Amino acid sequence: MSGKILVAPSVLSADFSKLGDEVEAIANAGADWIHLDVMDGHFVPNITFGAPIIKAIRNRTDKVFDVHLMIENPINYIKDFVDAGADIIAVHAETIRYTREATLDEMDKYDVKKAIAINPDYDVNELLPVLDRLDMVLVMTVYPGFGGQTMMKSSLDKVTVLKNEIAKRGLKTIVQIDGGVNADTIADAAKVGVDCVVAGSYVFKEDEYTDVIESLKLEK
Ligand code: DX5
Ligand code: ZN
Repeated sequence: MSGKILVAPSVLSADFSKLGDEVEAIANAGADWIHLDVMDGHFVPNITFGAPIIKAIRNRTDKVFDVHLMIENPINYIKDFVDAGADIIAVHAETIRYTREATLDEMDKYDVKKAIAINPDYDVNELLPVLDRLDMVLVMTVYPGFGGQTMMKSSLDKVTVLKNEIAKRGLKTIVQIDGGVNADTIADAAKVGVDCVVAGSYVFKEDEYTDVIESLKLEK
Protein backbone atom coordinates (compact mmCIF):
# COMPACT_ATOMS: atom_id res chain seq x y z
CA MET A 1 0.00 0.00 0.00
CA SER A 2 1.45 3.35 -1.00
CA GLY A 3 -1.29 5.92 -1.46
CA LYS A 4 -4.27 6.13 -3.71
CA ILE A 5 -4.53 5.66 -7.44
CA LEU A 6 -4.75 8.94 -9.36
CA VAL A 7 -7.76 9.19 -11.66
CA ALA A 8 -7.51 10.87 -15.07
CA PRO A 9 -10.90 10.96 -16.79
CA SER A 10 -10.58 10.90 -20.56
CA VAL A 11 -12.72 13.52 -22.27
CA LEU A 12 -12.93 11.28 -25.32
CA SER A 13 -16.31 10.17 -23.95
CA ALA A 14 -17.41 13.67 -22.93
CA ASP A 15 -20.02 15.79 -24.71
CA PHE A 16 -17.81 17.70 -27.17
CA SER A 17 -20.49 20.34 -27.71
CA LYS A 18 -19.69 21.60 -24.20
CA LEU A 19 -16.14 20.40 -23.70
CA GLY A 20 -15.11 23.30 -21.45
CA ASP A 21 -18.05 22.65 -19.11
CA GLU A 22 -17.25 18.93 -19.05
CA VAL A 23 -13.62 19.61 -18.10
CA GLU A 24 -14.78 21.89 -15.31
CA ALA A 25 -17.30 19.30 -14.15
CA ILE A 26 -14.78 16.44 -13.88
CA ALA A 27 -12.29 18.76 -12.19
CA ASN A 28 -14.90 19.72 -9.59
CA ALA A 29 -15.92 16.07 -9.25
CA GLY A 30 -12.47 15.07 -8.01
CA ALA A 31 -10.51 14.22 -11.14
CA ASP A 32 -6.79 14.31 -10.37
CA TRP A 33 -5.77 14.92 -13.97
CA ILE A 34 -7.57 15.61 -17.25
CA HIS A 35 -6.67 13.07 -19.96
CA LEU A 36 -6.79 14.43 -23.50
CA ASP A 37 -6.74 11.95 -26.40
CA VAL A 38 -5.28 13.39 -29.58
CA MET A 39 -5.82 11.12 -32.61
CA ASP A 40 -4.59 11.76 -36.13
CA GLY A 41 -6.41 9.24 -38.32
CA HIS A 42 -3.06 7.65 -39.24
CA PHE A 43 -1.59 6.03 -36.14
CA VAL A 44 -5.16 5.24 -35.09
CA PRO A 45 -8.26 5.18 -37.30
CA ASN A 46 -10.03 8.10 -35.64
CA ILE A 47 -9.45 11.84 -35.60
CA THR A 48 -10.28 13.80 -32.45
CA PHE A 49 -8.82 17.22 -31.71
CA GLY A 50 -5.50 19.03 -31.63
CA ALA A 51 -3.64 21.76 -29.80
CA PRO A 52 -6.11 24.62 -30.49
CA ILE A 53 -8.94 22.80 -28.70
CA ILE A 54 -6.68 22.00 -25.75
CA LYS A 55 -5.66 25.65 -25.60
CA ALA A 56 -9.31 26.70 -25.66
CA ILE A 57 -10.18 24.64 -22.56
CA ARG A 58 -6.94 25.29 -20.66
CA ASN A 59 -8.43 28.13 -18.63
CA ARG A 60 -11.27 25.99 -17.28
CA THR A 61 -9.16 24.26 -14.61
CA ASP A 62 -5.72 24.23 -13.01
CA LYS A 63 -5.61 20.42 -13.03
CA VAL A 64 -2.82 18.58 -14.80
CA PHE A 65 -3.44 18.30 -18.55
CA ASP A 66 -2.30 14.80 -19.48
CA VAL A 67 -2.01 14.74 -23.26
CA HIS A 68 -1.99 11.34 -24.96
CA LEU A 69 -0.67 11.75 -28.49
CA MET A 70 -1.88 9.00 -30.80
CA ILE A 71 -0.20 10.65 -33.78
CA GLU A 72 2.63 9.92 -36.20
CA ASN A 73 5.78 12.06 -36.01
CA PRO A 74 4.98 13.49 -32.57
CA ILE A 75 8.38 15.22 -32.47
CA ASN A 76 6.99 17.83 -34.86
CA TYR A 77 4.13 18.78 -32.55
CA ILE A 78 5.62 18.80 -29.03
CA LYS A 79 5.98 22.60 -28.95
CA ASP A 80 2.38 23.12 -30.10
CA PHE A 81 1.02 20.98 -27.27
CA VAL A 82 3.30 22.58 -24.68
CA ASP A 83 2.16 26.01 -25.85
CA ALA A 84 -1.45 24.83 -25.63
CA GLY A 85 -0.96 24.00 -21.95
CA ALA A 86 0.06 20.34 -21.72
CA ASP A 87 1.66 19.37 -18.40
CA ILE A 88 2.46 15.79 -19.42
CA ILE A 89 2.84 14.51 -22.96
CA ALA A 90 2.75 10.81 -23.83
CA VAL A 91 4.07 9.85 -27.25
CA HIS A 92 3.59 6.33 -28.54
CA ALA A 93 6.67 4.09 -28.65
CA GLU A 94 5.44 2.72 -31.97
CA THR A 95 5.62 6.21 -33.54
CA ILE A 96 9.19 6.98 -32.43
CA ARG A 97 11.05 3.80 -33.36
CA TYR A 98 13.75 5.75 -35.21
CA THR A 99 13.44 9.03 -33.32
CA ARG A 100 13.15 7.98 -29.70
CA GLU A 101 16.10 9.88 -28.24
CA ALA A 102 15.45 12.88 -30.47
CA THR A 103 11.81 13.03 -29.38
CA LEU A 104 12.77 12.88 -25.71
CA ASP A 105 15.45 15.55 -26.36
CA GLU A 106 12.77 17.73 -27.96
CA MET A 107 10.55 17.33 -24.88
CA ASP A 108 13.50 18.21 -22.65
CA LYS A 109 13.55 21.68 -24.22
CA TYR A 110 10.26 22.55 -22.54
CA ASP A 111 8.67 22.58 -19.11
CA VAL A 112 6.67 19.41 -19.67
CA LYS A 113 6.71 15.91 -18.18
CA LYS A 114 7.78 13.11 -20.52
CA ALA A 115 5.84 9.89 -21.05
CA ILE A 116 5.92 7.04 -23.53
CA ALA A 117 2.79 5.01 -24.26
CA ILE A 118 2.99 1.36 -25.33
CA ASN A 119 0.40 -0.73 -27.12
CA PRO A 120 -0.67 -4.17 -25.88
CA ASP A 121 1.63 -5.93 -28.37
CA TYR A 122 4.71 -3.81 -27.58
CA ASP A 123 7.57 -5.60 -25.82
CA VAL A 124 7.99 -3.68 -22.57
CA ASN A 125 11.68 -4.67 -22.40
CA GLU A 126 12.33 -2.42 -25.39
CA LEU A 127 11.39 0.53 -23.24
CA LEU A 128 13.79 -0.19 -20.40
CA PRO A 129 16.85 1.56 -21.92
CA VAL A 130 15.06 4.94 -21.71
CA LEU A 131 13.10 4.35 -18.51
CA ASP A 132 15.38 6.68 -16.53
CA ARG A 133 14.38 9.57 -18.79
CA LEU A 134 10.65 9.13 -18.31
CA ASP A 135 8.30 10.72 -15.80
CA MET A 136 5.58 8.26 -16.77
CA VAL A 137 4.92 5.13 -18.79
CA LEU A 138 1.44 4.73 -20.22
CA VAL A 139 0.58 1.05 -20.61
CA MET A 140 -2.35 0.70 -23.00
CA THR A 141 -4.79 -1.92 -21.76
CA VAL A 142 -6.68 -1.77 -25.09
CA TYR A 143 -5.54 -1.02 -28.63
CA PRO A 144 -5.85 2.75 -28.90
CA GLY A 145 -8.39 4.53 -31.07
CA PHE A 146 -11.72 3.97 -29.39
CA GLY A 147 -13.35 4.34 -25.99
CA GLY A 148 -15.53 1.69 -24.42
CA GLN A 149 -13.40 -1.39 -25.10
CA THR A 150 -12.77 -4.28 -22.71
CA MET A 151 -9.54 -4.24 -20.70
CA MET A 152 -6.88 -6.70 -21.84
CA LYS A 153 -5.74 -7.99 -18.48
CA SER A 154 -2.55 -9.42 -20.00
CA SER A 155 -1.23 -5.84 -20.29
CA LEU A 156 -1.13 -5.62 -16.50
CA ASP A 157 1.90 -7.96 -16.56
CA LYS A 158 3.79 -5.09 -18.21
CA VAL A 159 2.93 -2.89 -15.25
CA THR A 160 4.51 -5.46 -12.93
CA VAL A 161 7.70 -5.53 -15.03
CA LEU A 162 7.88 -1.74 -15.02
CA LYS A 163 7.13 -1.30 -11.32
CA ASN A 164 9.86 -3.82 -10.43
CA GLU A 165 12.38 -2.11 -12.66
CA ILE A 166 11.44 1.35 -11.35
CA ALA A 167 11.86 0.16 -7.75
CA LYS A 168 15.16 -1.57 -8.55
CA ARG A 169 16.57 1.60 -10.11
CA GLY A 170 15.08 3.90 -7.46
CA LEU A 171 13.24 5.99 -10.07
CA LYS A 172 10.22 8.24 -9.55
CA THR A 173 8.64 7.21 -12.87
CA ILE A 174 4.93 6.51 -12.52
CA VAL A 175 2.85 3.97 -14.43
CA GLN A 176 -0.53 4.77 -15.92
CA ILE A 177 -2.99 2.46 -17.64
CA ASP A 178 -5.57 3.42 -20.24
CA GLY A 179 -8.50 1.40 -21.58
CA GLY A 180 -11.36 -0.52 -20.05
CA VAL A 181 -10.98 0.84 -16.53
CA ASN A 182 -14.19 0.46 -14.52
CA ALA A 183 -15.53 -0.92 -11.22
CA ASP A 184 -14.88 -4.50 -12.35
CA THR A 185 -11.28 -4.00 -13.47
CA ILE A 186 -9.89 -1.42 -11.03
CA ALA A 187 -9.06 -3.97 -8.30
CA ASP A 188 -6.74 -5.92 -10.61
CA ALA A 189 -5.07 -2.66 -11.60
CA ALA A 190 -4.57 -1.70 -7.97
CA LYS A 191 -3.09 -5.12 -7.24
CA VAL A 192 -0.21 -4.56 -9.67
CA GLY A 193 0.42 -1.10 -8.23
CA VAL A 194 -0.76 1.15 -11.05
CA ASP A 195 -0.20 4.80 -10.06
CA CYS A 196 -2.76 6.45 -12.33
CA VAL A 197 -5.74 5.23 -14.35
CA VAL A 198 -7.44 6.79 -17.34
CA ALA A 199 -11.19 6.23 -17.53
CA GLY A 200 -13.44 7.49 -20.29
CA SER A 201 -16.74 5.74 -20.86
CA TYR A 202 -17.03 4.54 -17.25
CA VAL A 203 -16.97 8.13 -15.95
CA PHE A 204 -18.97 9.90 -18.65
CA LYS A 205 -21.84 7.41 -18.80
CA GLU A 206 -22.98 8.91 -15.48
CA ASP A 207 -24.84 12.22 -15.13
CA GLU A 208 -22.90 13.05 -12.01
CA TYR A 209 -19.18 12.30 -11.91
CA THR A 210 -18.16 12.51 -8.22
CA ASP A 211 -19.05 8.99 -7.06
CA VAL A 212 -17.74 7.26 -10.12
CA ILE A 213 -14.38 9.06 -9.94
CA GLU A 214 -14.14 8.34 -6.20
CA SER A 215 -14.89 4.65 -6.81
CA LEU A 216 -11.62 4.33 -8.78
CA LYS A 217 -9.38 5.90 -6.12
CA LEU A 218 -8.34 2.63 -4.53
CA GLU A 219 -5.27 2.17 -2.38
CA LYS A 220 -2.53 0.75 -4.54
C1 DX5 B 1 -8.35 5.04 -26.27
C2 DX5 B 1 -8.02 6.25 -25.45
C3 DX5 B 1 -8.58 6.22 -24.09
C4 DX5 B 1 -10.09 6.11 -24.01
C5 DX5 B 1 -10.37 5.14 -22.93
O1 DX5 B 1 -7.61 5.01 -27.42
O2 DX5 B 1 -6.61 6.40 -25.33
O3 DX5 B 1 -8.09 7.26 -23.27
O4 DX5 B 1 -10.74 7.31 -23.76
O5 DX5 B 1 -11.73 4.86 -22.94
P1 DX5 B 1 -12.40 3.82 -21.97
O6 DX5 B 1 -12.07 4.24 -20.55
O7 DX5 B 1 -13.84 3.93 -22.30
O8 DX5 B 1 -11.80 2.47 -22.27
ZN1 ZN C 1 -5.85 7.86 -23.80
